[in-house]
Amino acid sequence: MTDTVTPTAPQSAPQNAPAYEGPRRILSGIQASGALHLGNYLGALKRFTELQDQGAPCFLFVADMHAITVWQDPAKLADQTREIAAAYLASGLDPARSIIFPQSAVRAHADLAWVFNCVARLGWLDRMTQFKEKSGKHKERSSVGLYTYPVLQAADILLYKATEVPTGEDQKQHLELTRDIAAKFNNDFGVPGFFPLPEPLTQGPAPRVMSLRDGSAKMSKSDPSDQSRINLTDDADTIVAKIRKARSDADVLPDTLEALNDRPEAKNLVTIYAALADMTREQVLAQYAGQGFGAFKPALAERAVEAMAPVTAEMRRLMADPAEIDRVLKDGAERASAIADPVVDEVKKIVGFWRA
Ligand code: TYM
Repeated sequence: MTDTVTPTAPQSAPQNAPAYEGPRRILSGIQASGALHLGNYLGALKRFTELQDQGAPCFLFVADMHAITVWQDPAKLADQTREIAAAYLASGLDPARSIIFPQSAVRAHADLAWVFNCVARLGWLDRMTQFKEKSGKHKERSSVGLYTYPVLQAADILLYKATEVPTGEDQKQHLELTRDIAAKFNNDFGVPGFFPLPEPLTQGPAPRVMSLRDGSAKMSKSDPSDQSRINLTDDADTIVAKIRKARSDADVLPDTLEALNDRPEAKNLVTIYAALADMTREQVLAQYAGQGFGAFKPALAERAVEAMAPVTAEMRRLMADPAEIDRVLKDGAERASAIADPVVDEVKKIVGFWRA
């Protein structure tokens, strides 16, 4: 008896497989699961706009299919989707240049995800730390969708043959899995270079914004304390108050980055300032070395309000006009489908599915 009961693809890794030769494409997504925060803004939204403004074609979608891997109130989901779309637009994405769409409106995501479910290995998914964090102590009560979540993410990316994927650091492992799936598909089906191995762009100026209450925990919408994060819906007074109360320490700011290594809260606040002001952290320290948080926090609050106020005001304006958002999403879904459908048709052919 062999040690395996299910047949697997012949393992014949081609030598010198040709590299992918398609065009440069940037793609990213944000879950439609409620409140966006400063971490999403600095780690993702702001960077998408910068990449768009460099002239790269960008695909930005609202991951509503990922959102339902945990319970979402059906009465609210469509509005949550509109809210993310509003955040894309408010942070500077231009629907004429970038394609903004809801994931569930492009059927090909589900089609490709199924094929990838049959390419990815259980052992690969077993290593995913985000599943472990999100399922907690009750793995057996989690949805199957939560487990295969990274496979759908790989489908999102490869459906458009994206070459670069800007995200915060927390998505790094999912992006590595995407590369593994692309390589295994290309290899198993003998189609070298069919899918690109997308480059993870997880090294932005603030790839991991930390909680304002605990410098060792990521800023996250699931943190029970609202004081831990700055929401994209917070008004100026709330932002100022949250930064004033943010955990810090009694020391003055040092003049080197290394000296912040054992001061996680101080490091986080300096990182946030730098990302908001488009400065390096070294430049921020050069300006504030020797000063304490009594002086630094008001300066940071001013920067945060200055950067966030136009975004939050525009989000509010857009949310008051859902028809305008819906027009953008519908147009985006049509343009996205026009690119995705032929790719999934080709995949079906490669896999050998019946065709008339
Ligand atoms: P999501 O919705 O959790 O987060 C959206 C984006 O925000 C980044 N982010 C952060 N960046 C810095 N500091 C933080 N504290 C912070 N918190 C969140 C995330 O890294 C992400 O870039 N699985 C994805 C959505 C997704 C996706 C994709 C992304 C689905 N398909 C395909 C890229 C490509 C997620 O849950 O992101």
